[in-house]
Parts: sequence; C-alpha cells; structure tokens
Amino acid sequence: MNDPTGRSLAAEVREEGAPVADDDPKVVSTDEGNPFIRYVGSDVLLSLQYPRTDAPAEPAFLIMTQVMELLFKLAHIEALRTRDQLESSDVTGALWTLRRLGQVSATLTGSWDVLGSLSPTEYAEFREQLGSGTGFQSFMYRQMEFLLGNKNAKLAEAHRADERIHRDLVRTLTEPSLYDAALRLLWRRGLPVPRSCVERDWSEPYEEQDAVVDAWHVVYVEKDKYGDLYQLAEALMSLAADLGQWRYTHLLTVERLLGAKAGTGGTTGANWLRRVADHRFFPELWMVRTKL
Ligand code: HEM
Repeated sequence: MNDPTGRSLAAEVREEGAPVADDDPKVVSTDEGNPFIRYVGSDVLLSLQYPRTDAPAEPAFLIMTQVMELLFKLAHIEALRTRDQLESSDVTGALWTLRRLGQVSATLTGSWDVLGSLSPTEYAEFREQLGSGTGFQSFMYRQMEFLLGNKNAKLAEAHRADERIHRDLVRTLTEPSLYDAALRLLWRRGLPVPRSCVERDWSEPYEEQDAVVDAWHVVYVEKDKYGDLYQLAEALMSLAADLGQWRYTHLLTVERLLGAKAGTGGTTGANWLRRVADHRFFPELWMVRTKL
C-alpha cells in the first residue's frame, strides 16, 4: 500500500528498523487512536483485572469469571433474538440463531477447563478476597436464566439497590421467555397448547403441563407435517442439554475445589448446586421422550 509520497508503508517501517514483508498488516495509529483498540474497546476491557493477592491462580480465576460474564451477555443477546424470531413466527431465523447460541453455550462449558486446572490449595490462597461475593449474584446469568424460562421474582428483588440492573431484570421477568414464545408459536400453528400458556403473568414461574407434553408429542409423531417445529424442538433440546452441562461442570469444579465446604454466598455449596443442576430448561421436551 503506497502513501501519497509514493513510499510503501512496509518500506517506511523497515526504515525504522523492523524487517517486514510488503504484505504485512498496516500499523496504523491516527489522531483518534488505533482503530482496532477503538472498535474493540480492548484498552478499557484489559484494564479491568485487579487481582487482590499475589496468588499465582488468581488471574486465571478473575479472567475466566469475566470471560463467562461476557459469554452470558452474548448468550442473552442471541436468546433474545431467538425469542423475538419465534414471536414473529420466523422459525428459519430462530433455527439459525439457535445454532450460534448452541456454540456460545458449548464455549461456556469449555471455559471450565481452565478453572479445572486449579488445585484446592491454590484456590484457598485468594478465596477469602471474595468476602460474601458469589456467582449467585451475577445479574447477567440471572438475565439469561429468566429469558430462557427459569423465572424467580425474588432473585430480581435481590438487585433492587442497582436501579439499571433491577429495571432490566424486571423487564425480562415480565416478558415472555424464549420457551413461552415457542409454545405461543405451537398454539398459533394449531397445536393443542393450553390457553394458559399463551397469555399469563409471565413473571410467574413456568409450571410444566401434561397438555404441553401432548402438543410436543404431536410434533414428534407427525414430524413430516411439522418439520420446522420438529427441528425447533431438537434445537431447543440441544440448548437445554448444553446449559445443563455448564451447571454440572460448575458443580464438579466446585466439588474439586471446595469438597463439602459452604459457599461464599451462604449455601451448602456443592449440595445446593446439585439441586440447581436438577432443573431442566424446556421441561416438556424432556418429558415427551418417555412417550416416544
Ligand atoms: C471456580 C471457583 C468457583 C467456585 C468454588 C464456585 C462456587 C459456587 C457456589 C458454592 C455457589 C452456590 C452459592 C454460594 O453459596 O456461593 C455458586 C453459585 C454460582 N456460581 Fe459459582 N463458583 C466458582 C466459579 C464460578 C464462575 C467462574 C462463575 C461464572 C461467572 C460462577 C457462576 C455461578 C452462578 C451463576 C451461580 C448461581 C447459580 C444459580 O443461581 O443457579 N461460578 N458458585
């Protein structure tokens, strides 16, 4: 690439002592700064890591926690798009978005590998820095759980002190979840979904119903007629299984690091997480399998 004086940028850099090939990337810094850093915000992002100790494993814990928070955010963005596509009966679009959401969920589970490399003694070197802090207080995780259908108004109230976070959580709590949107779609397509699944107080926890199992049963048994809904059912099942993997891998990581110790958030730790891991997103899709 030539500049107005006719000299190639590579030649310019070479003059400054760095041996480069003509097709090397341009090293650009304008008055507004470096365009990559400006676009990605990496200067801000990479200035947000503050280990509180010299413990060798603390950076891994802090950074992987931040990585997961970012992935919760991306999962929430993709789940929101899927929910809206289902609400507008765009099943093809929803299936496409679910492909990406599935990859995000798998990456979330893979993220545990780094934390699985910590020993209990390494973790103990900085654990007390958390105080009463715990992943249970992650609002992005709560957003994701609410949007996928695991609603609990009390958990939104726990964030009342932060107006913006609380407002966003209440919005997600009071809107249809991704699963509600799927059931509303089935209903519009004439499947026997009960009226109570189509209009209700969305902030109430979802309760599984035999009639919804029956509706999914029709989709599976008549998959030639309901091909797109059959694909949707299986894509949702993959997502539910991936999210279940994240929960189980969290539980195993916690057992490795803490044994039977209580959590910093005041629960019984692994025992409590075992109960959480028993929850299933999109429950009737799990139930219908028994009938097929
Ligand atoms: C590797 C060290 C970790 C340990 C020992 C650990 C331990 C625990 C424990 C014991 C709980 C139950 C609540 C409590 O009493 O604190 C919990 C909940 C939770 N943790 Fe972790 N955790 C770890 C890493 C992470 C990371 C990296 C994340 C990602 C941000 C995370 C996200 C969560 C979430 C979202 C919950 C609440 C789950 C729910 O409400 O269903 N944890 N964790």
